Amino acid sequence: MAYPLVRHRRLRNSAGLRSMVRETSVEVNDFIAPIFVTEGNGIKEEISSMPGVYHWSLDNMEEEINEMVSLGIQSVLVFGVPSEKDAVGSSAYDENGIVQKAIRRIKSLYPDLVVVADTCLCQFTDHGHCGVVHTTECGADIDNDESLALLVKTAVSQAKAGADIIAPSNMMDGFVAAIREGLDEAGYKHIPIMSYSVKYSSAYYGPFREAAHSSPQFGDRKTYQMDPANSREALREAESDIAEGADFLMVKPGLAYLDVVRMLRDRYNLPLVVYNVSAEYSMVKAAAMQGWIDERAIVMETLLGMKRAGADLIITYHAKDAARWLQQG
Ligand code: PBG
Ligand code: ZN
Repeated sequence: MAYPLVRHRRLRNSAGLRSMVRETSVEVNDFIAPIFVTEGNGIKEEISSMPGVYHWSLDNMEEEINEMVSLGIQSVLVFGVPSEKDAVGSSAYDENGIVQKAIRRIKSLYPDLVVVADTCLCQFTDHGHCGVVHTTECGADIDNDESLALLVKTAVSQAKAGADIIAPSNMMDGFVAAIREGLDEAGYKHIPIMSYSVKYSSAYYGPFREAAHSSPQFGDRKTYQMDPANSREALREAESDIAEGADFLMVKPGLAYLDVVRMLRDRYNLPLVVYNVSAEYSMVKAAAMQGWIDERAIVMETLLGMKRAGADLIITYHAKDAARWLQQG
């Protein structure tokens, strides 16, 4: 035979044809934009390991929120850097904690903006772990059930401040059920839980820990976050979260775990979130600043890959840039 029997290139022949057969798209509605809020006044400070991402004090954060809203971003994820830390993370569930104040401020500026609260203790504990630490002769242990009580208090105080979605990232067992029960009892039956269901113990969180001042002061998070080698275990994590009443599932990090995203998408019908984490962002920024890559093309291809793998929503530090590029068309 002189010619190939099947000619795939027919459908790639023009921009019109290509757009007719395009299977996946990235839209501004897909994005959840993180924001780092800090105590103090007059602060807009670039995070050195995350160029283009800033620490904002409450009096200055309006600039950032205005820009996000003007770009069409409909959801933000709030991270707080408190001024006080202690062993039990008291500032995480203080009515006047940095996150609670930031949520109230954002909701007063834009009542329709969907505010997601990250529910964890690591930014608020002096030891930097996501739960309560018990030190014994054989070392330190993160007490699961004791931590749950504090996480419930944190979630309820965030809901009380006006959070629209509670996003627990702590990886204690039973956190979805505990928080669900706590929210329901406090009168927040209507507030959904976006569970960080499948969260790996990852080096890709490095720049975030610098930004959030949340590095563990000893040890690591391997007794609660997942082993990167495991994918069947990801299904067990997702199954227990679904059974406990999670409203969204999440996979984190994104790029090195897109096989897990696809697995969850094929098995479960909950909305699925992918967290395009800090080092994924920083690596792109660093290469772009060197002039080694085309930042816009790389970022849009990455986000598209996450959608194609099965993500419904993407938490990404590229949200503002990507929204701008989408507007430019
Ligand atoms: C807190 C939390 C972390 C991230 C989100 N929430 C850090 C961690 O678990 O160490 C990481 C986000 C990122 O790297 O962008 N538990
Ligand atoms: Zn944590």
